[in-house]
Amino acid sequence: MSKTEQLVGKMWSGRFREPLDTAFEQWQRSFPFDWRLLAQEVAASKAHARMIAAAGVLDGVELAAMLGGLDRVSANAATDGPTMVASAPGAEDIHHYVELELTVEIGELALKLHTGRSRNEQIATDMRLFVREAIDAAVDGLRAWAEALLESADGAGEAVMPSYTHMQRAEPVLVAHWLLAYVAMAERDISRLKDARARMNYCPLGSGAVAGATLALDREIAARELGFDGPTANSMDATSDRDFLLEFTQCLATMGVHLSRFAEEITLYSTAEFGFVELPEAFSTGSSAMPQKKNPDFTELLRGKCARLVGASTTLTVLMKGLPLAYNKDLQEGQEPVFDAADTARGMLKILPGFTRALKFNFARMRAAATTGYLNAMAAATYLTGKGVAFRKAHEKVGNAVRFALESRRELNELTLEELRQFGEEFGEDFFAAITLEATLDCHDVVGGTNRERVRTALDEARERLAQPAPAASVP
Ligand code: ARG
Repeated sequence: MSKTEQLVGKMWSGRFREPLDTAFEQWQRSFPFDWRLLAQEVAASKAHARMIAAAGVLDGVELAAMLGGLDRVSANAATDGPTMVASAPGAEDIHHYVELELTVEIGELALKLHTGRSRNEQIATDMRLFVREAIDAAVDGLRAWAEALLESADGAGEAVMPSYTHMQRAEPVLVAHWLLAYVAMAERDISRLKDARARMNYCPLGSGAVAGATLALDREIAARELGFDGPTANSMDATSDRDFLLEFTQCLATMGVHLSRFAEEITLYSTAEFGFVELPEAFSTGSSAMPQKKNPDFTELLRGKCARLVGASTTLTVLMKGLPLAYNKDLQEGQEPVFDAADTARGMLKILPGFTRALKFNFARMRAAATTGYLNAMAAATYLTGKGVAFRKAHEKVGNAVRFALESRRELNELTLEELRQFGEEFGEDFFAAITLEATLDCHDVVGGTNRERVRTALDEARERLAQPAPAASVP
């Protein structure tokens, strides 16, 4: 045991006569993964030091020495996890590590840092700081994706494609309209993450182990220092609450579902059967067996990574469901899925905007698919309602006309007026103008519809909403 380890000991060894089982000791350590919380632990420790100094536990000189020591601990630490972990084999967790290292820096004064605090509030604080930063990163990534989608939508102009319901061709839509559907999902993801951020932005420091600090601390000091909106309201809740981890992973799981749906559509539309989009070579790979292949690896992996995000939120939910108040060691198991989900989301969002920009649409194929197969049948029925026919009746008349056209392999606009009149005397010369591609798009003249003017407006509005300033990156 090093001199420092003798000094700091096991953090809790006073009450014990027997040493820990060595396998158990190693197994229960969280340092092999919570080393990632070094920046947060140091920031929270500095905030705590200021709080206990204000309560008279440290004088000005001691506080300055402690703050300087904590900065040196963070500056001297190995930047990669395995080296940091190997450098302190006796450290149980990141809290223990920082205390050990602080003792190396400032000697016995370091032992005063733990006055009036508990690791239970420390880990609750560190994780909040970690999640807050991860939320900001995810929001930035989603914004970048939404911007890439807006650029593609802008570039698509008045290009059209079929929309599908039940995966059967339904009505023509603007390609821009389709892309804006994903912008809407990204905006909801952003809003959900911001909501979660606002709810979690309270500081547990001063909650103690469970019942509140045993010193009369001014908790506002630490809250302010760490960029929180204030101290948490209840010490039992604050030390055991992990709602913010649940919400964070749930937000990411929902985001993952959106990314996965996009990935699925691109995968499908890039097949020879659809031929709507060409996969960018920079994001695809070949097959070692079949020389002709270009595989949609990026979109397939997006779909796959979504499973991990859903997995993280499931782990957190199951972890929490049976826990009595307040802190329980089970909570330590909540860290790794959160780290993994944050990393996974970061990785997905880093590549997605560039991939989206690199997609090359085959507008001719999309248009051909949108102009065959009676996608204007609904517009045709709407035309008849304009002539005073009840929609149910109009539906039937157009249905009959479609069946007739199918038999001679023609589209509705290829039928003669005479032929059409067999199915309804309301069909007039103006019918053909009402079922052109443009008319079929423009008859959806409602907010959120695929009318060309409406889509132009929707694009401008989305652009404006996304130009609102991003939340400030907030980890001190
Ligand atoms: N490593 C622990 C965790 O992640 C820190 C809190 C430990 N508290 C305790 N009372 N053993 O949950």
